[in-house]
Amino acid sequence: MWDADGREYIDLWMAHYDAILGHSPEPVVNALREILSDGLHVGIPMEYEAVLAAMITELMPCAEMVRFCCSGTEADMYAVRLARGFTGRNIILKIEGGFHGAGTDLSVNVFVPHFRGKEGIGLIPSLEQYTRSVIFNDIDDTYQAIQEAEEDLAAVIIEPALGAFMLPAEAEYLAFLREETKKRQALLIFDEIITGFRIGLGSAQEYFGITPDLTTMGKVMGGGMPIGAIGGRADILEISSVQRNVPQWEKIFIGGGTYSANPLSMVAGITTLNILKERKDDIYPVIDARNKRLCEGIQNAFDAVGIPIHLTRFGSLMAVHFLKEKGLPIKNAGDIIKHTLTAEKEEFAARMRNHGIYFLRSSALSTEHSDADIDAIVAAAEECAREMAEDR
Ligand SMILES: Cc1ncc(COP(=O)(O)O)c(C=O)c1O
Repeated sequence: MWDADGREYIDLWMAHYDAILGHSPEPVVNALREILSDGLHVGIPMEYEAVLAAMITELMPCAEMVRFCCSGTEADMYAVRLARGFTGRNIILKIEGGFHGAGTDLSVNVFVPHFRGKEGIGLIPSLEQYTRSVIFNDIDDTYQAIQEAEEDLAAVIIEPALGAFMLPAEAEYLAFLREETKKRQALLIFDEIITGFRIGLGSAQEYFGITPDLTTMGKVMGGGMPIGAIGGRADILEISSVQRNVPQWEKIFIGGGTYSANPLSMVAGITTLNILKERKDDIYPVIDARNKRLCEGIQNAFDAVGIPIHLTRFGSLMAVHFLKEKGLPIKNAGDIIKHTLTAEKEEFAARMRNHGIYFLRSSALSTEHSDADIDAIVAAAEECAREMAEDR
């Protein structure tokens, strides 16, 4: 990547973790050139959306049906409506520090200091009555919130790895959510907008062996074009189907959208998923192993200068946390507040950019990051660690 002054960077942001095949994968770019020669958008169903939907239903364990939209925000907005419409209940439980885009329903306890409260003005006062938050990986806290929601619990929505900190859920926590939601006929929704097709072809749900009722997707499956999708149980998604011969007011109204399922996003998505399918054994294990080596290198760099850090890692994703003291645990958003130093985290990212590594708060590797790139990133982290130790 080059900035406006021509300075070169190794990118670790990778288009919001989307660009798993790099910024300019030739087969995807060529497929887009070809489809562009047919024209732009027509706004009626085309075969490409059926092809991409079939690929998703084959790969994503929970997806019996799929509905496309243009962003992850939209997908999460629709998932909440599907959950409320299907169950006839109101309360959604989300995770403290969980990010699901900018939709109103889930704009609670995301980033605000201490991850508590509404995200800003313009949100209705009753929002927190119906969107409540629980502590990630905390079974007791979550059980209490589930009990308090009583018969009005529509769904629990969770990122299987908390994207703001690249913190994977504990398997027993997800198993607990699966069991409790099932017992109460509430829905379990996985937001796999970051983890979908990045953690493996079957995504985080296959990795953990837990099948939610609905999954929201985006990023990787759009191959660099705008996309969102909801997949899940057919009995839930069918209630929103345009083919159902009942009046609109008996359906769950989701979908439409001028650019939903537009051919550019569909073709980029099909080409990307085909590459991931065909080369899965050379892609996932390789980028995951490189990420492990990268994390070990950064950890060693800071151990060597006596600055306590902790790296969270999931597949090809990672984040660096600066600890107030060595050994403090990071299991949830509260631990980020209590046990980590955000100013140091920002400082490290800024110093990495000065050393030609485009690093923000967390990172994602792609097939285009070579072993030599990992060496260069680790060497830059070593420089930054030395500088930070000297300046303390
Ligand atoms: C976990 C998660 N959910 C939802 C979204 C929103 O997706 P989009 O930016 O496509 O609206 C994001 C975006 O970063 C995300 O990380």
